Order: sequence, then structure tokens, then C-alpha cells
Amino acid sequence: MKKIVIAIDGHSSCGKSTMAKDLAKEVGYIYVDTGAMYRSVTLFALRNNMFDNHGNIMADLLESRMQEINISFILDKETGRPETYLNGKNVEHEIRKMEVSGRVSQVAALGFVRKALVEQQQRMGKDKGIVMDGRDIGTTVFPDAELKIFVTASADVRAQRRYEELKAKGDDADYNEILENVRQRDYIDSHREVSPLRKADDAIELDNSNMTIAEQRKWLMDRFKERTE
Ligand code: DC
Repeated sequence: MKKIVIAIDGHSSCGKSTMAKDLAKEVGYIYVDTGAMYRSVTLFALRNNMFDNHGNIMADLLESRMQEINISFILDKETGRPETYLNGKNVEHEIRKMEVSGRVSQVAALGFVRKALVEQQQRMGKDKGIVMDGRDIGTTVFPDAELKIFVTASADVRAQRRYEELKAKGDDADYNEILENVRQRDYIDSHREVSPLRKADDAIELDNSNMTIAEQRKWLMDRFKERTE
């Protein structure tokens, strides 16, 4: 069967990753969560005190140390799912915390960060057989991807999903704070100068506000089959 590139873009917390991960596992493709890469750079910046007293990123400082950042994904033996490693340490849990979520849009708006991560993402997908999710995969990273999906859901539904996800992990979660963060990130992600979030012209749109995970999984599998059979 021919191998393809699958680009899944959309708003934050719309369930892209769950869909993308499930499909990759089912069809034996590599899965790459590019949001995790931007989050890892943000975590690196936080750990190295690269935010000023107003919470703004000190971009020059980060740029001068980009070479020190190494991001990789390693399959977890128990779940069979890839987890994010920053300089050899598993950061999968830490990069999902609010501290990172509240700052990642600033970091993802920096041209030099995007350039470095996009190059790494293109290398990861050069042999195809990959499902990549993010904001600019179908528009910038793989404009020639054979299958492009653009996922949306209402802000309330997305905030509720993230709230439940954090609670399930035992993390502190405040619904209103999360809703505010979701809205803020939508705004910054769609209005930034470099690679703003937008649907590629040839992407298929999916609003999953009222869909179960099983329904989304089947929908995506059907699209995959259309492209590969
Ligand atoms: O998908 P996520 O919520 O984990 O993404 C975290 C942030 O990274 C989000 O605010 C947008 C940004 N991002 C991006 O700019 N480009 C990508 N390809 C993926 C994520």
C-alpha cells in the first residue's frame, strides 16, 4: 500500500492529537505532535529564566541558545504511544501544564523558532508514512500532503475537554481560566505574522463538537482509505 503524509491542523484542544494518534497506531504510521515541540521549547525557556518580569519572552536570549534544544519522541512501552523528550528527559506531562500553555503562543510566534522546528518536522516526514498534527502542517510544513484535515470545535467544548484531561491527570484545573486560555491562543495563533493558523485550500474541514471519539476515528479512517486504496 502506498505511504502518504497526513496533515492534521486546527484549533487548540479540539481533539486533533487523539484522532491523529489513533490513526497512526492503527495504520502503523509515525505520529508527530508538533504542538509538543513548541511546548518543549517553551519549557526550555521557562527553565532557563527566559521570560522577563512581565511574562514576555526574551527572544534574543532564546535565539542564542536554540542549538542546545533537542526534541525527540520515544514510544512508551506500555501505551505504545510516542512521548516527548527534551534533551533526553521525558517532559510529556510537564509540557501540558498551564504554566506552559499560557506562554507557548508567544514562543510559537517567533520566526527563528518556527524555522528550526519546521525543518526538523520536514526531515521527520521525508519518507512519508507519517501523521503530523499542528497549526501549519498543511499550509507550510507539508503543502503537498496527500491528506489534509482541518479540525474545529466550539471554544466551550474545547475548554471542557481540556479541563477533563487535566483533572484526569490530577492537575489543578479551573474551567474559566482554561476557556480564557483557549480563546487567547485562538486569537494569537490566527493573527501572528509567521504561519498563522488557517485552513489550507485543499483541506477537508471537520467540526467535531458533537462527535464521539469513535465517530471521529471512523471518519478519519474513511478519509485515509479514500486516499490510499
Ligand atoms: O496543539 P497544542 O495546543 O499543543 O499547541 C501548543 C501551541 O503551539 C499552540 O498555542 C500553537 C502552537 N503551535 C504552532 O504554532 N504550530 C504548530 N504546528 C503546532 C502548535
